[in-house]
Amino acid sequence: MPKLKLGVLISGRGSNLQAIIEAASDPGFPAEVAVVISNRPDAYGLQRATAAGIPSRLIDHTAYGAKADFEAVLSKALDEAEVDLVCLAGFMRLLSRAFVERRSDRIINIHPSLLPAFKGLHTHQRALDARVAETGCTVHYVTPGMDEGRTILQKRLAILPGDTPDSLAERLLPLEHAAYVEAIQVLAGTLPG
Ligand code: GRF
Repeated sequence: MPKLKLGVLISGRGSNLQAIIEAASDPGFPAEVAVVISNRPDAYGLQRATAAGIPSRLIDHTAYGAKADFEAVLSKALDEAEVDLVCLAGFMRLLSRAFVERRSDRIINIHPSLLPAFKGLHTHQRALDARVAETGCTVHYVTPGMDEGRTILQKRLAILPGDTPDSLAERLLPLEHAAYVEAIQVLAGTLPG
């Protein structure tokens, strides 16, 4: 079976990227990271890609006047790497309708809440403020709207007395990593490589 080729888009730390890289180092994993692309020059994830011997690209959105110009370069880089599935992993740009529709059901994202609850930023603080009993993470298809596409899978985390945004983020992170790897495995079984 040919492996699904992933293009992982990042803006920062890249711990989800690292989890995907490590999963893909298993010869039995159904996907491989073909390219890592960051829109920020200081994203630590770029160093993770280099350390793993994976091609990486910096496409700095601030260098382009129009979103369409940035996305044209991004699209070309993904095409050149023959990417089958785009994985947003802490990528902090919204993608246009044209970009998303060209890769319909082939762009996914991870979000640190149980969507549709708490779209956007500061999810853990908002979960605590809302006094919900649990939070979690969601891997979902990407649409032009923020954190709005269909859910692929979720993992749940109980909120404990004394939890803070930081403690929730710390306990959730390993669940995010597992969720992303699992979602890629699920999709690899459905998408042609
Ligand atoms: C994660 O919490 C992810 O859910 C959110 O951004 C963060 C990225 O972390 N979308 P990392 O860069 O993968 O470490």
